[in-house]
Amino acid sequence: MLIKVRRGWELPEAAATSESVFVNRRTVLQSLGLGAIAASLPGVHAARADAIAYPFAKNEKYTVDRLITSEEINTTYNNFYEFGSQKTISKAAQKLTTKPWTVTFDGLVEKPITIDAEALLAQMPREERVYRHRCVEAWSMVVPWSGFALADMVKFAKPLGSAKYVRFETFSRPDEAPGMRQFWYPWPYIEGVTMAEAMNELGFMVTGAYGKTLAKSMGAPLRLHLPWKYGFKSIKSIVKVSFTEERPKTFWEAIQSSEYGFWANVNPQVPHLRWSQATERVLGSDERVPTKLFNGYAEYVADLYKDLAKERLWA
Ligand code: MTE
Repeated sequence: MLIKVRRGWELPEAAATSESVFVNRRTVLQSLGLGAIAASLPGVHAARADAIAYPFAKNEKYTVDRLITSEEINTTYNNFYEFGSQKTISKAAQKLTTKPWTVTFDGLVEKPITIDAEALLAQMPREERVYRHRCVEAWSMVVPWSGFALADMVKFAKPLGSAKYVRFETFSRPDEAPGMRQFWYPWPYIEGVTMAEAMNELGFMVTGAYGKTLAKSMGAPLRLHLPWKYGFKSIKSIVKVSFTEERPKTFWEAIQSSEYGFWANVNPQVPHLRWSQATERVLGSDERVPTKLFNGYAEYVADLYKDLAKERLWA
């Protein structure tokens, strides 16, 4: 795969961060300007006046001993089948309308809620976390995500004690997303985790990256990132979060369950049916590096699986 991009991996993490801070000072000033206009037009621009300012404070607990992948690579080398099955969907994804955007919480909850994505973000403790991102196709990136803990969103939704799983659903808009007209895929994109996984501290709801609002190609305005699992678990552009007793049937499981299971935890010793998972291609470099168990996050998540040996935890 030929990727014509600036050699962003040569930037140390500190340089990448200061660049994003610089960019965002500008964004903040712009949003202040918009705020002033909004004040004179009550109602019309109210949502903008309240827009959340990036960057969010960096949580130093979640850093990575690798260089951050360049923003250019991350926004232009994507898996987002709603816009096509190639990596080059970033232009097509610009058609997605992300404002307004609501998220519905339903199923086994005290009371179903539908809330604007920005209003949800405003209620959450916000932070930046640098995570490894490992695709089942054996490429990887390092991404400075902005957002809030999945566990905090679960608490916000007030699930009942009977909830065993969290099911996530992406938008259904074939008019904006041409890939959805490929009727042989089981749309909409669905993903799911157990309640225990959802309450683990690593699960992250992403609203931004590189210190600014999330690019459409990366799953704006709200996506999941589960850094210890293969990337296909990290569902993009979420419109619905349901709490269920039944294990959700996921998009990739419905397509090919022998290759893409429910758990999909990263394990270098368990090959995909058609290729090895022992190493990964670091996007933006010529390097191949050894893949780590749970993508390097075993200390946080290994305990989740200690009583689940009978499950197919790895692929
Ligand atoms: N979410 C939706 N809705 N549609 C998709 O096609 N692809 C998944 C995941 N989330 C996908 C999705 C896969 S296979 C991967 S590897 C990651 O998104 C890719 O995220 P990235 O493009 O931001 O790197």
